[in-house]
Amino acid sequence: MAESADRERRVEWFDRVCHDVHRRLSGLDDGEPASYIPELARVDPDRFAIAAMTVDGESTAVGDQDHPFTIQSISKLLLYGRALETQGRDAVLRRAGVDPTGDPFNAIELDELQHRAPNPMVNSGAIAVTDMVEGTDLEERIDAVLTLFERYLGRRPDVDDAVCSSEYATGNRNRAIGYLLVDQGIVSDRIEETLDLYFMQCSILVTAADLAMIGATIANSGIHPTTGERVVGPQVARDMLTVALTCGMYDYAGEWAYTIGIPAKSGVGGGIVGMIPGVGGLAVYSPRLDEHGNSVRGIRVFEELSQEFDLHVFDSDRPWN
Ligand code: DON
Repeated sequence: MAESADRERRVEWFDRVCHDVHRRLSGLDDGEPASYIPELARVDPDRFAIAAMTVDGESTAVGDQDHPFTIQSISKLLLYGRALETQGRDAVLRRAGVDPTGDPFNAIELDELQHRAPNPMVNSGAIAVTDMVEGTDLEERIDAVLTLFERYLGRRPDVDDAVCSSEYATGNRNRAIGYLLVDQGIVSDRIEETLDLYFMQCSILVTAADLAMIGATIANSGIHPTTGERVVGPQVARDMLTVALTCGMYDYAGEWAYTIGIPAKSGVGGGIVGMIPGVGGLAVYSPRLDEHGNSVRGIRVFEELSQEFDLHVFDSDRPWN
């Protein structure tokens, strides 16, 4: 009895603080939505949501928590988990290592020594991992990716066709990365099909509440908090958390790990998902981005909540355990 009352008080406390942080940061107008993908520049820059779900399926949210936006690079983490689950660590490590680069997400670079992409969170590694989605044609491979998302979201997601076409029309940098991977024999020669699949996965529509649920699933060693389904194995969930902590925020990853200390993944659509192992998922949506391609308000929210609730993974006495 005392324990559940205690738990309720903590959830109320978390909820109250989220509402307070949301109110205070709603006026922060630094940063601009991404524009290198023209369709992304059309979003309302002041949309803002915070959402959370515990590993027991308790959830809270404030702001535009049900407003859909494109998942962008956060999709890379789920595809990485799938590749590990379906083809194993060695096969994935042959294509993408686990080394943070300290460079921007779309750097045209490979690990020349190991002859692979540096990690699966930068575009080169992500395209190499997406190439691992099996299927006789694009349609079958798209179906495999949408089915993966259905296991995390509990529904078949929609794709933003306008963003997908905009990404296709302006995706030459990713094509350059793709052909470098072909040239180095890291991916198969069906690279145009793989790039189409990559553009599609980045254009999948989610909400902040969805991201919190995805985060809670990974933080729960791969078991979905509400459906109870095992989406990925515990070892795979651990690898996803590790790579998210070291590489998920790109050339801001070191600073993020130091000040916030939560495994996380960002996307240029304005989403950030954080995974607190054994506790839950925390997500922010705000399309105003900084020079690293990370949500400005998103970083501030994580800074404040990590501080307030001792969410840093190396914090010894988290109030949630
Ligand atoms: O490939 C791209 O450039 C985009 N579809 C995804 C990049 C992204 O989300 C970077 N994250 N902050």
